[in-house]
Amino acid sequence: MKIIVTGSSGFIGFHVSKKLLESGNKVHGVDSMNNYYDINLKKARLSILNKYKNFSFSKTKIENKKNVDKAFKKFKPVVVIHLAAQAGVRYSIEKPRVYLDSNITGTYNIIEISKTLDVKHLIMASSSSVYGANKKIPFKEIDKTETQMSIYAATKKSNESMAHAYSNIWKVPITMVRFFTVYGPWGRPDMALFKFTKGILNNKKIDIYNNGKMYRDFTYIDDIVSGINLLIKKVPNTKQLGKYKDDSLSPIAPFRILNIGNTKKVYLLDFIKEIEKVLGKKAKRNYMPLQKGDVKQTLSNTNLLKKITRYNPKTNFKTGIRKFLDWYLEYYN
Ligand SMILES: NC(=O)c1ccc[n+]([C@@H]2O[C@H](COP(=O)([O-])OP(=O)(O)OC[C@H]3O[C@@H](n4cnc5c(N)ncnc54)[C@H](O)[C@@H]3O)[C@@H](O)[C@H]2O)c1
Repeated sequence: MKIIVTGSSGFIGFHVSKKLLESGNKVHGVDSMNNYYDINLKKARLSILNKYKNFSFSKTKIENKKNVDKAFKKFKPVVVIHLAAQAGVRYSIEKPRVYLDSNITGTYNIIEISKTLDVKHLIMASSSSVYGANKKIPFKEIDKTETQMSIYAATKKSNESMAHAYSNIWKVPITMVRFFTVYGPWGRPDMALFKFTKGILNNKKIDIYNNGKMYRDFTYIDDIVSGINLLIKKVPNTKQLGKYKDDSLSPIAPFRILNIGNTKKVYLLDFIKEIEKVLGKKAKRNYMPLQKGDVKQTLSNTNLLKKITRYNPKTNFKTGIRKFLDWYLEYYN
């Protein structure tokens, strides 16, 4: 199958592309290779993908409509997996504008060209952060999502909304996937596991927000990749209405929202303890208040995804941390 993956030099996009290539698909990657974090990491991921003969690549910002249209029209994708975005909650306090450009204008361009080319399934990244200050745990797709805490979360919520409208008017089949704190080899340097590991190894203090009183549904990258893979052929269709309990399928459009998470609570302090254990070294701790824009807890309910695809997350946080650290120690020598 011909598949475009946006954000292919990013953490999740790299793993998704690699898996698709390994199973014989043709993949065209799109990425701006921006310097939000260490560009060498993006270059290293891209050079691995470049080794596959079925991989091609366009370096462009997705907000550049002309470039996006050109790449898409040339490749003619059947499926589009849209993962390019400006991620990160903290940076969205410093630079909100970047989020509007990448996540709103950029995503608009991707949906628009997917409509023009009659793409059979557009899968787009949303985030657990759209659940914002919701108190009801675990988070379910049909829960209200009215209280985004950051600009980042707000752009993801707008993507869901814009996607639904497109799906309604032009019948573009769209699945929005809400990822829950993804981690693993080749991960993102601005995220907790990476920062904790680096801090501990360099004898630097690590910042622990809300004095450690928070938990996350940490989801190992392979489980995310498997969730996306299983979804490719599960194109939403209003004929499926009534088929699944608590379905988030739109009653009027081929549009559905799905959580992809591990469905387990992991307290931040237990997460840190495990990193210390594997590294054989104690962290110097800097307890801090909750960061602006951040949430204290996330936990997914993935029953709907399980019913639709038989998704079954396999990696617990201890195994996942070990795999990340094996990669980290080797990569950074
Ligand atoms: N990692 C997580 O825990 C997590 C959780 C929820 C949602 N998500 C979403 O998943 C997607 C992938 O996240 P990731 O963790 O792999 O992040 P990442 O930053 O590693 O990957 C994003 C990639 O997109 C590229 N990019 C950013 N802005 C762009 C633009 N305007 N034009 C073209 N390319 C651009 C970047 O260069 C990067 O390579 C994002 O949409 C993110 O919001 C991630």
